[in-house]
Amino acid sequence: MLDGNEDYIQITTIERHILEEQSSHPEATGVLTSLLYDIALAGKVIASKTTRAGLAEILGRTEETNVQGEVVQKLDRFADLTLYRLNYHTGRLAVMASEEHADILPIPPEYRTGKYVLLFDPLDGSSNIDFNIPVGTIFAVYRRISEDGPGTLEDCLQPGRNLVVAGYLIYGSSTMFVYTTGHGVHGFTLDPSVGEFLLSHPHIRTSEEPAYFSANLGNRTCWSEGVNKFTDYLLGLDSQREALNLRYIGSLMADFHRNLLSGGIFYYPADRKDPTKPRGKLRLLYEASPLAFIIEQAGGYGSDGEQNILDIHPESLHQRTPLFIGNRELVEKAEDFLKRYD
Ligand code: AHG
Ligand code: MN
Ligand code: MN
Repeated sequence: MLDGNEDYIQITTIERHILEEQSSHPEATGVLTSLLYDIALAGKVIASKTTRAGLAEILGRTEETNVQGEVVQKLDRFADLTLYRLNYHTGRLAVMASEEHADILPIPPEYRTGKYVLLFDPLDGSSNIDFNIPVGTIFAVYRRISEDGPGTLEDCLQPGRNLVVAGYLIYGSSTMFVYTTGHGVHGFTLDPSVGEFLLSHPHIRTSEEPAYFSANLGNRTCWSEGVNKFTDYLLGLDSQREALNLRYIGSLMADFHRNLLSGGIFYYPADRKDPTKPRGKLRLLYEASPLAFIIEQAGGYGSDGEQNILDIHPESLHQRTPLFIGNRELVEKAEDFLKRYD
């Protein structure tokens, strides 16, 4: 018998955890387990590049711009290719969609299609790669709606309420894999010495006591009156509350992950000036919806300023949405300010 020191704390790999999660899904056939395992594997492959980006000739830009009109970073392309190459041939997916591609990514006709749909932002926070700031991968898994055969755009345009799995990887001081299947949010930390994601943050609940707020105050002149009044409230300028600490790193994954654990709110509102960002900058399908599912499972809330992100029915693949996400009380406060002043 161990002498009662910390060695007895069980070691749970992500595979073991996903298998146990699947036992609570009666219809599970192990396909979802394998899909999640492959996404975790993609994370390990991407992490192997992000942790050596300065050495691996993977810094900097490609000559391309993507459907978002943004310059594609080399690591964007690498992460996008890695996720596609690990999943197109497995027979688990009906279709994929990526931030980096204008249209859906069909499964090549020589391969079987499966019952799941995978949407992803292969690398979030790209503009920060060259400055050694944490970046991430965000993914969303749905069940296909179409009966069989090649997956369709409609299979991808589902509201967050239909999500089967949502999760992200964050490539920071450590590499973490955080996911939910609707039974709580669980975080795993990669142990590079053994190449395994080990359970490090079971049953994550966001703190009721917010510690930070995260927004790009450089955009204040582009925000509505309601958003600016809410921002003054967070800064304690209207004496309704103590000022919250501001932390904004410009990487949604890093800002979201910190607020998930510490309590707080992240918001990227609609832009009243920049005609390219009338609904803000962030994308509904592979940024806002999966994170809204995660935060709700952790006791928080994700809103577009008027409604729950999970209730929005997408009309297009790269549809953008204003996003207020984190501590429920603060997000609802933001909704109040927008209702009162906008
Ligand atoms: P991506 O790198 O996938 O395009 O996402 C970048 C997003 C998000 O990570 C971050 O919150 C936001 O861009 C920062 O935008 P600003 O620089 O306009 O604040
Ligand atoms: Mn992104
Ligand atoms: Mn991205």
